[in-house]
Amino acid sequence: MTDWDAALYLKFEKERTRPAIDLLARISNENPRTCADIGCGPGNSTELLVNRFPEAHIRGLDLSPGMLAAAKLRLPHVDFEQIDLAHWRPGRPYDVIFASGSLQWLPDHEALFPRLASLLTVGGCLAVHMPDTLQEPIRALMRMVAAGGSWTAKLMPVATSRPRIGSIKDYYRFLATACGSIDVWHTTYFHTLDNASKIVEWMKGCGLGPFLAQLDQDERRRFLEEYEARISAAYPPQIDGKVHLAVPTLFIVARRSI
Ligand SMILES: C[S@@+](CC[C@H](N)C(=O)[O-])C[C@H]1O[C@@H](n2cnc3c(N)ncnc32)[C@H](O)[C@@H]1O
Repeated sequence: MTDWDAALYLKFEKERTRPAIDLLARISNENPRTCADIGCGPGNSTELLVNRFPEAHIRGLDLSPGMLAAAKLRLPHVDFEQIDLAHWRPGRPYDVIFASGSLQWLPDHEALFPRLASLLTVGGCLAVHMPDTLQEPIRALMRMVAAGGSWTAKLMPVATSRPRIGSIKDYYRFLATACGSIDVWHTTYFHTLDNASKIVEWMKGCGLGPFLAQLDQDERRRFLEEYEARISAAYPPQIDGKVHLAVPTLFIVARRSI
């Protein structure tokens, strides 16, 4: 994938940060000494941790140079590091591992979640939220447009590469050996955006990136035109002309007990 565009991602900062705020509210640890924000992006979620846990040593980890550059500008006193979470092996355990909107990009959750739990101190907390949008029109239409144009061969590997999010039962099972307390829940956010073009803009800042990166300039224009036409039909205007973007989201807060 081409690098993330932090400015594009942050066009919807208020909406994108809301699940991180809700997740943080469910962490009951009083005075963690160490926190890792894994998949910290441009530092919006890291800033919440800094404000909530001012005494803690907080690290932000991400793979994207663009996101890390934005995070460092935003929070110059925080320790940010470029790391692929698929191979993250920190030298010491953490009191809080916070993953806000990042783990949906990583494969094999059955192995990943127990590994993350093993990186906690006893009593430490793993807090995760992931958009669970595979079946939503925003993602289904991306796959449909990808399957129906001259670009199909280029886009099919991308369209089928994104890992599947498991069920609530799955995450409970992945964590039950290490964690005595596991809270898993599902919420749907309905973000009110000005019109269907804003939904396309929203997606350009996240899930559309890997698709557009495969296309030349003309293909990109045609892909976006077709995608936007389908999005307009799938997200009709409300009484005031605005549209509702539904984002089902899975939350997990687990505390290590052994
Ligand atoms: C949607 S952003 C989330 C940003 C922020 N945490 C928030 O709450 O808005 C997802 C972030 O996960 C990062 N990411 C995806 N896969 C990763 C990996 N394998 N290793 C490290 N970071 C990864 C991306 O670079 C991106 O910055």
